[in-house]
Amino acid sequence: MELTFVMFKPDCVQRGLLGRILSRFDDKGLRLVAMKMLRITPAMAKQHYAEHVSKPFYPGLEEFITASPVVGCVFAGPEVVRVVRDMLGATSGLKAASGTIRGDYSASRQMNLVHASDSPESASREISIYFKSEELHAWEPSLACWTQAPGEV
Ligand code: CMP
Repeated sequence: MELTFVMFKPDCVQRGLLGRILSRFDDKGLRLVAMKMLRITPAMAKQHYAEHVSKPFYPGLEEFITASPVVGCVFAGPEVVRVVRDMLGATSGLKAASGTIRGDYSASRQMNLVHASDSPESASREISIYFKSEELHAWEPSLACWTQAPGEV
């Protein structure tokens, strides 16, 4: 089953939106397989955002993402990378459609509440920054037979 890395950023935790946003992933029926709170270090930020390190906005992004604890998660499900990105909406909360998480709760490009992997390859790279393989839990929800038909998973 496909995995994706999701990070509830400092603005999400500080604004008390963690429970509300996490519940949207629960409501969708995504399977949470790992979760931890941590404070990102500048070195971890450079590793996570390697493709953005040379961009003009990177210093501000690093200052923001290391300023306060985040909550990192791994979700599992069919097409979960695309499903979660669709639920988040466009990068900027000002441009994200209403009904998406950023569209409903963010008015910022940087403080966009939640990060999610953009491909299965990025997901496996990002998951390895934050989790050891033994911290990922394979479990079968009892209600799985009522959320997806046989063969859809
Ligand atoms: P995220 O999905 O975590 O991926 C990279 C992050 O960089 C993005 O969310 C925003 O928080 C931030 N970001 C992207 N583009 C910009 C920008 N132009 N200015 C400031 N921050 C940005």
